[in-house]
Amino acid sequence: MTFLSLACAAAVLVCDASSANYFCTDYFRAPNEISFARSDAWHDIYSNTNRSPAFPKSKLWHGAPPGRPLTILNALDPKEHMRFRKAMDPGFSESAIRSQEAILQKYATAFISRLEELPGVKGDGTVVNIVRWFGFFAFDVIGDLGFGESFDCLQSSEFHPWVSMIFNSLRAATLVVSLRYYPQLLWLLRLAIPKRVLKMQVEHQQMAVDKVNRRLNLETQRPDFISHIKLDEKGKQGLTLAELYATASIIIVAGSETTVTVVSGTTNHLVKNAEKLAILTSEVRARFSNENEITLAALRELPYLNAVIQEGLRMCNPAPVGLPRIVPPGGGSISGYFLPENTFVNVHPLGLGLSPNSFFDPKGFHPERWLSEYTKDLKSPFFTDDRSAVQPFSVGPRACIGKSLSYAELRLILARLVWNFDMSEADTDAGKLKWEDQRVFTVVERKPFDVILKRRKV
Ligand code: HEM
Repeated sequence: MTFLSLACAAAVLVCDASSANYFCTDYFRAPNEISFARSDAWHDIYSNTNRSPAFPKSKLWHGAPPGRPLTILNALDPKEHMRFRKAMDPGFSESAIRSQEAILQKYATAFISRLEELPGVKGDGTVVNIVRWFGFFAFDVIGDLGFGESFDCLQSSEFHPWVSMIFNSLRAATLVVSLRYYPQLLWLLRLAIPKRVLKMQVEHQQMAVDKVNRRLNLETQRPDFISHIKLDEKGKQGLTLAELYATASIIIVAGSETTVTVVSGTTNHLVKNAEKLAILTSEVRARFSNENEITLAALRELPYLNAVIQEGLRMCNPAPVGLPRIVPPGGGSISGYFLPENTFVNVHPLGLGLSPNSFFDPKGFHPERWLSEYTKDLKSPFFTDDRSAVQPFSVGPRACIGKSLSYAELRLILARLVWNFDMSEADTDAGKLKWEDQRVFTVVERKPFDVILKRRKV
């Protein structure tokens, strides 16, 4: 089953709609669930507007499990959520990211060095599952910024057991939410979870507690997320310790899974579109004669790199079936349609991002659609593209807190990769992967993707 059909299968949970109609309709209908594939729906659903506050998250999808502390994701009450944002925002601001640059560069250097050590890479080239290496980089970065210690993935060329568990738990979470639709069956779920899994959960929660405690005991003032977070045991101005433990785990998942998917998917499209990869490679190599000139500030100014990333975000959204919300008491309007209270609604990023109503040749990888020389040219096929349809970080009060960090990571790792290596398609099964042929369990499953890497001859 393809990525798209599975995305739609997942959407059936929400939408009960036929994938055959997907690109022809403005929205899906089901008894009480509607997905929108229209760009104006982004702000109608997720932003505070002068007509109504952002639509809330529902208990069914986002309620905290009984007995567990609140986190930024399951704080449903807007005031509680704002408490989390106020306590956490400073660690994710543009200036915080600037102060974190040395940490990002350290892991980018380790990423390049480890790849350089692979046999054959300095000769005719070698086949590398690049998804795995992007994973090592992203998890090490997020471990360091989140807990003050990396997961040592790059050093050991192995995923920490915690990391390996994350995808399985996201897959399980999708099933749990599906079962919450049938509360009379929840007892089945309790019986079905093996004791081994429950034990693993407890161990992993304990690991987060230990890691946060170790970080809090460090005397140094590191430029990481934790040093910015305000603690308040009364839970009024900042986070309680229990909330910090739980939130640190959330950051590890939210901040790694997503970035790895986008950079892997973007690389997949680049390698399958060799002429686009060549333009990107030339841009980066022409701009930097020395690798240590590749700074975050300089990368912000590279038009083609940034266009590649934008196109990657359009085509490789890590949560392609969307972010569910519920219509508040009294009802609400989305894209001009009035909906009764308690209707489940969302924007379907995949449907919208790949819709011919929004984009010229929507299934083609065209970074050019983001370049000003095309967007401003009346004769360009991309002139009429609806670029506001692409909101991979969402909008409004719950928009992604890690947006600036993600852009920094995506720019840095892609730029340093193409600066150092010639990359091309590998003639292996994993080399033939088409990004869109993958399944989705809330997030994209992410299969191995092989590329040939060859150290650039200078
Ligand atoms: C390409 C990478 C990323 C994408 C596409 C992405 C996307 C998103 C989206 C769409 C949301 C909104 C979720 C919702 O409303 O239900 C979100 C929220 C969030 N993201 Fe990201 N994210 C990315 C990277 C990161 C990173 C690097 C971090 C942290 C280091 C992070 C941390 C979070 C957190 C904590 C939230 C919850 C915010 C809130 O509820 O106020 N994300 N992300």
